[in-house]
Amino acid sequence: MSEPETKPVAQLTRRRFCQAAGVAACTVAASGAGVLSIEFLHPRVLFEPPTRVSLGPPDGVGVGSVIASETHRLFVIRLKDGFRALSSVCTHLGCITRYQPDDGVIACPCHGSRFSLDGDVISGPAPRPLHWLDMAVSDKGLITVDTAVEVPQGMVFKL
Ligand code: FES
Repeated sequence: MSEPETKPVAQLTRRRFCQAAGVAACTVAASGAGVLSIEFLHPRVLFEPPTRVSLGPPDGVGVGSVIASETHRLFVIRLKDGFRALSSVCTHLGCITRYQPDDGVIACPCHGSRFSLDGDVISGPAPRPLHWLDMAVSDKGLITVDTAVEVPQGMVFKL
């Protein structure tokens, strides 16, 4: 009679343990390098909305009218000789101001600053006038305002 064959039990020797630990460490390092490489190929870019915004056509805007856009944070004011655009961001702490047609002023709801339709400070605490913004007429004949481009105070656009 022959004895049944027995398979030898794999023993965890120091050599095998070190080999397994080395393979595991290399796998983790390669995985990390792979993830970083993929992230490198997809740079983190913050896409912001365009700063040039289109409003309506200039023809229908009567002299003395104020177009207020809370979305774009600006006012467009029709003058006898053209247009001006003002930022509606208060120069005190950045609240959004509102046009008050009854008083003919722009007022800040946060701390009570008041501005004229030239953007000048009527009453504080705002330290500076509202910013004047660049304007143009688009190819489609619409008023456009670039909220990222300031122009000198007093600049009137003939659109
Ligand atoms: Fe406008 Fe303070 S934020 S007055």
